[in-house]
Formats: sequence, C-alpha cells, structure tokens
Amino acid sequence: MTSTQPPASAAMSQDELKTLVGQAALSFIVPGEIVGVGSGSTVNKFIAALASMKDQIRGAVSSSLASTERLRALGIQVFDSNEVDRLSVYIDGADEIDHQGHMIKGGGAALTREKIVAALSSKFVCIVDESKLVQTLGKFPLPVEIIPMARRRITQQFEALGGRVQVRLKGGQPLVTDNGQIILDVSGLQIADPRAFELEISQWPGVVTVGVFAFQKAQVCLLGTASGVKTMTF
Ligand code: A5P
Repeated sequence: MTSTQPPASAAMSQDELKTLVGQAALSFIVPGEIVGVGSGSTVNKFIAALASMKDQIRGAVSSSLASTERLRALGIQVFDSNEVDRLSVYIDGADEIDHQGHMIKGGGAALTREKIVAALSSKFVCIVDESKLVQTLGKFPLPVEIIPMARRRITQQFEALGGRVQVRLKGGQPLVTDNGQIILDVSGLQIADPRAFELEISQWPGVVTVGVFAFQKAQVCLLGTASGVKTMTF
C-alpha cells in the first residue's frame, strides 16, 4: 500500500530528500515513550528533527556509538537496550529496501546493534531516498559482521555462492566495529529469497550478523521522492 504527501521540489538533492524523510518520521513517535534510533546519514537528519520533540519523549535506545553521541549532544537521554522490554517504534535507514520491506543494512558498520534494536521494536520505520528502492536485494555489497578467525572460511563460502568478498578497511586497516569485530562486504549476490538467505548465512560459524534484514524487516518505508514522501506499508 502506498500514499504520497505533498510534492517536494523536483530539484531536491539526495541530502534534502534525507532531511524530508527524517522529518516525516517524527509522526511515528509515540509521546511519552522511548524511541529506537538507528544509524547513518539519513538517521542523522531524523535525530536533528527529534530535537524539536525531545521534551515529549522519555529518551532513546541507540544502535551505534555515533548516534548515541548525537542524541546526548541534543540532551536526549540514551537508555541501554537491556533497560527496556519493548519499543513501540524503531526509526532507521537502509542501504537497499525491496517492495516487501526486506532490507540490506550495514553500510555504516552498525548492523549488529541495528538488528538487536529492531528485534526489540514493534514497528520498524525505514527512512530512505528513492535511490535505495530495488526489485531484488544484492546490488549494494552485502555487509557481514564476522569474527576475524573465521574470515578465510567465510570468504570461501561466499565465493562458492558467486560472491566477491572484501574486508572493509578504515585508514588502510580492517575496520573494527563497535563490537570489536570486522566487516566483509560481499558483492555479486542476487538475494531472491531474503528470509532463506538470512537463515542460512546466520548459521555459518563465525558470522555475527548478516546485513539482510528479512526477519526484522520494515513495516513502513518513508521514501523520499521528487514528488514528496511516499509511505509504503508492508
Ligand atoms: C548503518 O550500519 C546502516 O545500516 C545504515 O542504516 C545504512 O547504511 C543507511 O545509511 P545512510 O542513511 O547513510 O545511507
């Protein structure tokens, strides 16, 4: 199901579309509650918009150290995920989303904490610009957080599926996640059945989190388009 809000200017940049969906996400916040907050450049727009509502929420659970810093800088209290039983809503971006609400996430290396906070939440509201909407997941290289000891074997397993694997680097060294692990980026995959794929890869020894979100898929997608924010529900 889709609906579209008032038109944005046709000349809007990707950055402006991110601002638009970040602001639109405010309407999903339940006053008096703790909000689940994701990570990334689109969520940064949401966090900036959230400042205007900070007195109406109890606080946030955050999925990355970077988002936690931003929230605290605005005076929003950040709770540990173990302090809450349930969140009514989780707002986060994605690297790709399909027409069923399945996503690829982890471009910002925060996929493990994102999946944990998404699993705590009753509703996942995904905020993206229209460049992220795809028919089939896999054009964006799939992030997979792994334990370094398993790197060689997991690389071989992805290669057997037709994938090409790169260890994500930062400053010439393997990037270390908030959880002290590393990320593989796997290109060349076509993920036709996201649930079956997530189930299988999650069981490989050494995989911490695969960046396919099928079991924690979005219920709502706010899509920034040249003709306004389109709301897709799944
Ligand atoms: C962070 O690990 C990711 O899952 C982000 O949600 C995703 O990369 C989208 O980020 P942008 O909003 O910066 O495109």
